[in-house]
Amino acid sequence: MCGIVGYWGKKAAQPVLMEGLKRLEYRGYDSAGIALIADGQVMVKKTAGRISALQARLDRPSRRHTVGIAHTRWATHGPATDINAHPHLDFTGKIALVHNGIIENYQTLKRWLQIEGIQFVSETDTEVIAHLIGYFYTKGCSDQRPSNGQNVFEWSVQQALQRLHGTYGLAIICSDFPKMLIGARKGSPLILGVGDGEYVLASDAAAIVEHTTRAIYLADNEMVTIDSDGFHTKTIDNVTVCKDLQEIEFSLEQIELGGFAHHMLKEIFEQPQALNTCMQGRLNRRDRRIVLGGLASYMRQLTRARRIVFTGCGTAFHAGLVGEYLIEYLARIPAETEYASEFRYRSPIIEDGTFVIAISQSGETQDTMAAVEEAKDRGATVLGIVNVVGSSIARATDAGVYLHAGPEIGVASTKAFTAQLAVLTMLAIELGRRRHLGSAEVEYWIEQLAQIPGKIERILSQSDQIRQIAQANIDHNNWLFLGRGFNYPIALEGALKLKEISYLHAEGLPAAEMKHGPIALISDGMPAVFIATRGPQYDKIIGNINEVRSRGGRTIVLATEGDDQIRPYADFLIPVPDAPEILQPILTVVPLQLLAYHAAVLRGLDVDKPRNLAKSVTVQ
Ligand code: G6P
Repeated sequence: MCGIVGYWGKKAAQPVLMEGLKRLEYRGYDSAGIALIADGQVMVKKTAGRISALQARLDRPSRRHTVGIAHTRWATHGPATDINAHPHLDFTGKIALVHNGIIENYQTLKRWLQIEGIQFVSETDTEVIAHLIGYFYTKGCSDQRPSNGQNVFEWSVQQALQRLHGTYGLAIICSDFPKMLIGARKGSPLILGVGDGEYVLASDAAAIVEHTTRAIYLADNEMVTIDSDGFHTKTIDNVTVCKDLQEIEFSLEQIELGGFAHHMLKEIFEQPQALNTCMQGRLNRRDRRIVLGGLASYMRQLTRARRIVFTGCGTAFHAGLVGEYLIEYLARIPAETEYASEFRYRSPIIEDGTFVIAISQSGETQDTMAAVEEAKDRGATVLGIVNVVGSSIARATDAGVYLHAGPEIGVASTKAFTAQLAVLTMLAIELGRRRHLGSAEVEYWIEQLAQIPGKIERILSQSDQIRQIAQANIDHNNWLFLGRGFNYPIALEGALKLKEISYLHAEGLPAAEMKHGPIALISDGMPAVFIATRGPQYDKIIGNINEVRSRGGRTIVLATEGDDQIRPYADFLIPVPDAPEILQPILTVVPLQLLAYHAAVLRGLDVDKPRNLAKSVTVQ
């Protein structure tokens, strides 16, 4: 995990780096640090705690310090302490680096470096990289000069990187080369923003767009060296590579709060717009078909698929579960969903005609990426449903569909989830159309889907009422979320949302499973959230609501607007606009997002940065 930023330019580096860190804070926020080249020396400041704690320890920025690196951490190796915070220095004190990723062979390298007499001060895997570069740098400066006249700092970095196993996004500086910044990438994202006489290196475009919208995306095993002659991209084996400058798609305005108290709330309210953008140009009403350009060359094969396997983590996994129901219902293709972390280790069976579809907001989740690699190794065609353009999963998959939901900053995924459901619905309709659906049916589903953003607006207007419901129930530490059919995955998602940001324990279940055990949990006043919108299992779920009420549980019921029959069964009622059952998940999840959001705020918690979590989980 972690976010890294590097700056090379004409301005004082410190404010640029600190601003960049704030934009990357979602990637981890247990410690932070900065290193600048100041008067021929590397100056490091770092501390456990949030970026604000680092800011408080910094001196006033100086315009003489125009090259630097910075880091916001999510601890993997070693707890969140001042010493374990990045940047890490090598034993000469000349080289400083920040790292996002995990070095798998760090213990072997550490033992070897210790035998060579190098002392370690931290418990991190990252410190090994710094010392390894320092080791080659010292040699390069003495007996083992690079033979081709190559800069010794760059050469040392390459020598070290060639010996690392694992993943890294790195930004590195050296006090002997005060006008040089090096970045390198393997398995962790790294983007170089190219401005007018200035460069910003970062894990995510969010830290770059304030300065420039032109960027290059480094690929695995590539590095970039920035000096007074400009930037040079190479492989870590020193082979020059030419990279195209690309335009970064989103603006600064899109990632700022725009009057909302939190990113999560902003992103919940952005859902109608995000869905409209996601569906724009894809719903072809005139020809009664769906156009998913990114999949065009695979649609014929996909239509004949024998099996579709969705994979992802967290909220994206829940989207996969809905996708499985949608594909089986509309396209009649067998489908299943597997946690990416399980899929990759269970020796999955990939037969001819199996398609694996990876779902990920960030496109950087390591478990999902590993599942993609596993599926490819086993010969599957692998497609992606991803939000972040140019991300690792987007590039590793054979083809895919972008969500176009805009940047999602809040750690708890919201608008990416509903956009994932919209893409899955579009895919299922189009596959259905190509297999057996009549054109009137296709037209019906397209029309119904097009109405969803407007219906979400109606749910959002109930935010205050939902806050009152949260207020009345937040004293209870245990909650149940229950749904059936297409709304079963939404029960899981509702419980996940409440857990991750309000730290209340919640369990999501298919409502019928309650009687096989969890019903024993129900005690006086325990909140049970039922998704009981009209559909084929409506009567059954009323039965389940009664089972809870008769045992003293308190019911919060999501019901179809205008359903008066259900009122007597609900201690709290949340009306949801009517929709066919297969489209209900995109609607029913929205009140549950709001419920979790308000519960967390009312409990005084940091909604956008919940404890122990990070937005982009780049560890396995
Ligand atoms: C983290 C986030 C979740 C997200 C999951 C998968 O755990 O906190 O909100 O659902 O990662 O992320 P992805 O970027 O692959 O969708």
